Amino acid sequence: MEVKTSLLDNMIGVGDMVLIEPLSEDTFIENLRKRFEHNEIYTYIGSVVISMNPYKSLPIYTAEKVEEYRNRNFYELSPHIYALADEAYRSLRDQDKDQCILITGESGAGKTEASKFVMSYVAAVCGKGQEVNKVKEQLLQSNPVLEAFGNAKTVRNDNSSRFGKYMDIEFDFKGDPLGGVISNYLLEKSRVVKQPRGERNFHIFYQLLSGASDDTLKKLKLDRDFSKYNYLSLDSATVNGLDDAACFRTVRNAMQIVGFMEDEVQSVLELVAAVLKLGNLEFKPESRCNGFDESRIKDKNGEYLKEMCELLGIEQSVLERAFSFRTVEAKMEKVSTTLNVAQAYYARDALAKNLYSRLFSWLVNRINESIKAQTKSRKKVMGVLDIYGFEIFEDNSFEQFIINYCNEKLQQIFIELTLREEQEEYIREGIEWTNIEYFNNAIICDLIENNKNGILAMLDEECLRPGTVTDETFLDKLNTVCAEHQHFESRQSKNSKFLTDHSLPHNCFRIQHYAGKVLYRVEGFVDKNNDLLYRDLSQAMYKANHSLIKILFPEGNPAKVNLKRPLTAGFQFRASVGTLMKNLLTKNPNYIRCIKPNDKKAAHIFTDSLVCHQVRYLGLMENVRVRRAGYAFRQAYEPCLERYKMLCKQTWPHWKGPAREGVEVLLKNLQVAAEEFAYGRSKIFIRNPRTLFFLEEKRRQCLEDLATLIQKIYRGWKCRTHFLLLKKSQVVVAAWYRRFAQQKKYQNIRSSALVVQSYIRGWKVRREYRKFFRANAGKKIYDFTIQRIMQKYFMGLKKTMPSMSPVDKSWPARPYGFLDGMHQELRRIFHLWRCKKYRSQFTEEKKATYEEKLAASELFKDKKALYPSSVGQPFKGDYVEITKNPKYQKLNSLVEDKVLLADVVSKINRANGKVRTISSPRIFLLTKKSLVLADQKTGQVKASVPLLDLSSVSVSTQSDGFFALKLKEGSTSAAKGDFLLSSDRLIEIITKLHRIGAASAERNQINIDISDEFLVQFKQDKVCVKFIPGTPKNGNGVACKRKNNRLLEVSVPSP
Ligand SMILES: Nc1ncnc2c1ncn2[C@@H]1O[C@H](COP(=O)(O)OP(=O)(O)O)[C@@H](O)[C@H]1O
Ligand SMILES: [Mg+2]
Repeated sequence: MEVKTSLLDNMIGVGDMVLIEPLSEDTFIENLRKRFEHNEIYTYIGSVVISMNPYKSLPIYTAEKVEEYRNRNFYELSPHIYALADEAYRSLRDQDKDQCILITGESGAGKTEASKFVMSYVAAVCGKGQEVNKVKEQLLQSNPVLEAFGNAKTVRNDNSSRFGKYMDIEFDFKGDPLGGVISNYLLEKSRVVKQPRGERNFHIFYQLLSGASDDTLKKLKLDRDFSKYNYLSLDSATVNGLDDAACFRTVRNAMQIVGFMEDEVQSVLELVAAVLKLGNLEFKPESRCNGFDESRIKDKNGEYLKEMCELLGIEQSVLERAFSFRTVEAKMEKVSTTLNVAQAYYARDALAKNLYSRLFSWLVNRINESIKAQTKSRKKVMGVLDIYGFEIFEDNSFEQFIINYCNEKLQQIFIELTLREEQEEYIREGIEWTNIEYFNNAIICDLIENNKNGILAMLDEECLRPGTVTDETFLDKLNTVCAEHQHFESRQSKNSKFLTDHSLPHNCFRIQHYAGKVLYRVEGFVDKNNDLLYRDLSQAMYKANHSLIKILFPEGNPAKVNLKRPLTAGFQFRASVGTLMKNLLTKNPNYIRCIKPNDKKAAHIFTDSLVCHQVRYLGLMENVRVRRAGYAFRQAYEPCLERYKMLCKQTWPHWKGPAREGVEVLLKNLQVAAEEFAYGRSKIFIRNPRTLFFLEEKRRQCLEDLATLIQKIYRGWKCRTHFLLLKKSQVVVAAWYRRFAQQKKYQNIRSSALVVQSYIRGWKVRREYRKFFRANAGKKIYDFTIQRIMQKYFMGLKKTMPSMSPVDKSWPARPYGFLDGMHQELRRIFHLWRCKKYRSQFTEEKKATYEEKLAASELFKDKKALYPSSVGQPFKGDYVEITKNPKYQKLNSLVEDKVLLADVVSKINRANGKVRTISSPRIFLLTKKSLVLADQKTGQVKASVPLLDLSSVSVSTQSDGFFALKLKEGSTSAAKGDFLLSSDRLIEIITKLHRIGAASAERNQINIDISDEFLVQFKQDKVCVKFIPGTPKNGNGVACKRKNNRLLEVSVPSP
């Protein structure tokens, strides 16, 4: 939606001076100041734009700003030059009205900048396309070229235009630019030869010397040194913030874009160089015989003259002569007179001025040729006039007079057109027109331009008059002719009231311009009006062998000798101003009134007196008065209704009927006094700004209320939306939760149902299958269970197996009673297996040892009480170390076989048969074949018995070590009787003995007789050896007691 805004929004001061209340010069200036301080440099008076020069760049000329102002109504946005440009362009394009933009103001007030802003705005908003862009570019680039040649630094403005410029931009019916025409007015050519203090010559001179390449300068025979050239003022040759070299490049570039050929550019630069050289020519007097001095070019300047002539292709002697003589034609007769030095200087400067100003005009024409519209079809035109403003100096001369005249003319069409427009609007809108008092400056224009007795006419008359003509005679003439005029003042005039006015010097006259009184010094008026260039010089120029120079001085052509005097400057100017005015009057005017805030070219300074002066002479107050005379403010019905409709219930928020009726209802409702407004055809006219401000104030209040209302509704809406959202979310959350709960419940029910169902199904199936179950399944289940138990048992057993030691008694507890048998059996098997394992590790030796032990066990276990004590003792065999002991070496050598056993035994004395307990120790040797008894001390053999002679061995059942070796009856050994021996190692001895018997095939096994009573053959007697349990009094030892011949009692202590 397009936002409807208005100039009245956010105003600083008032945006339109028409609305100022109360209207006075003070309030007017105060308003300007206030806006200026807020960087609001534009203010309207109706449709006129006042522009204050900010002297700083403001961010208000951006592409965004262009878009902002594009196609918007004039009063819709805050005042801006773009609004005016837009209005002008649109009414040109849409309403087919030719436009002119009139920019006026003092030097340095911002006219040229304003004209550029207008042009760039139009360029930005008009059509696009390759061709159109080229045209636009050429139009825009004509500016830098003209500024280089036509602008200069002055005390008022670093870039002051020293010529008036009017540019017609031509458009086609679509509003696309086709081309343009530039007219220039009165270049300030005196500047070429002389510049006031603090000012400088035209920019191009400095730009050329700073920016041209060495090569170019060489070609032009110039030095890069300002001080070499008399025409260049040195005190301000460089301008702060101005880069002449860069500007030169810009200008060259612009010339190229505009369409200058390379050789044309070269010619132009040659002329510029020639002017500089011309300035360096100096003259000296040379006495002539007729008593007059004749001027000659000083010798040291000969070089300059030569170079200049070379540059321009002029014969040096011709030019030289032209500076010494002039040809005067009197009564059809040519007379040559000499020039004195002063005249020569005059001639030099006149030539330089003419050369330069004609070059400038040629440039303008050349640009026109380039930017000329290519079609012949009808064009729409927008003219932009950037002309020097009103000038009031301390010392005002002919130039100021001409300039101010031009401004008078402009003021006139301004008044005429604004009034006319105002009037036309009233008529258009059907509002009664009330006559407005205003100052019409036509009378001043008349004073200057009247053909019969206008000042310019008088001047021309003077110039053409034969006889001595001086500025004084001209002033005399004015004093007589214009004395009566209300706006003419002079000391010598007939009007006696100035006779004693000392502010009015004698050689001056004063004119009361619409913008104030200006004092003109008459000195130079005649000369400047004549603008005389000696014909000899123009002819010399014409003879030049330089294409451009020739064109510039056509009057030098001898074939066209025109004896008529050339047109005076004043006359020419008056004519061109006349044409311009005529041209402007056919167009719809748009005004930009530029004001400079201070004389220092400084931002932020606002000098009241200076602004006041400008406001006065620009006639701005009158402008406001005219505008307010009838109705101060007017506005079309639609935007008016749109803006104020909230002030009345009937029109708010929408008015259905026509806008005009809406406004009527509105105003009636607000009880605005009837004389305060008038209804036009399309606009409402408000007489007093007060009424408008009343409406604005009401609107502001209303907007505040509306804002509150909007705020309220918005807040309500926001809360409600939020609430609705919450509510919606709550429903969603609840729904999800319910769903979830129900789902959960359903799942519970479902799984419960499944359980119940499976129970029922199981029950049913079991009932159905019970009969089959008993028959088959029971057994299967039983088997399975048993298998399972067994498996578990075995697996468990595997983990709890006892160690591999054969003496380990442990065995896991049985788990089930019914496995008892197997459990024990497994234990047994395991034991056997581990014993086998154990045995399998035995060596042969060990095996033999254990075999012996086993044999001992078989023989004695549970038969003899001594046996248990032998189990733990290893059967070493050799206890006396028979082979090692040297005592028994001999004994050992006697024994043939390997000694199986050697031990010390006790021999029971049998010879005396006495009962003795002392036994004599003997070495007992056992070999495979025999046994030997030897003396323990000596090792002497006492008895050697072959084993074959041994019949049996007897031992008791008790724990004693007694054993009897019984010999076979009849054998050789038997002669001495049986042996009764005692040894602690009885078990080992007997076992070995027994095993020898068992191993040999030749012998019968030796019997082992175990009993507590056995017979022993002692020599002749057979004695019974009887073992009885001992009593404690016998002590621990075994006691033998011979009872009689037949009985030997051995008491063995019980263990
Ligand atoms: N709108 C503006 N914004 C910024 N600077 C400006 C503006 N108008 C003028 N100026 C400054 O003021 C100087 C003089 O302006 P110019 O247009 O040359 O004055 P005039 O043509 O009226 O003599 C410019 O060179 C520029 O520095
Ligand atoms: Mg200017």
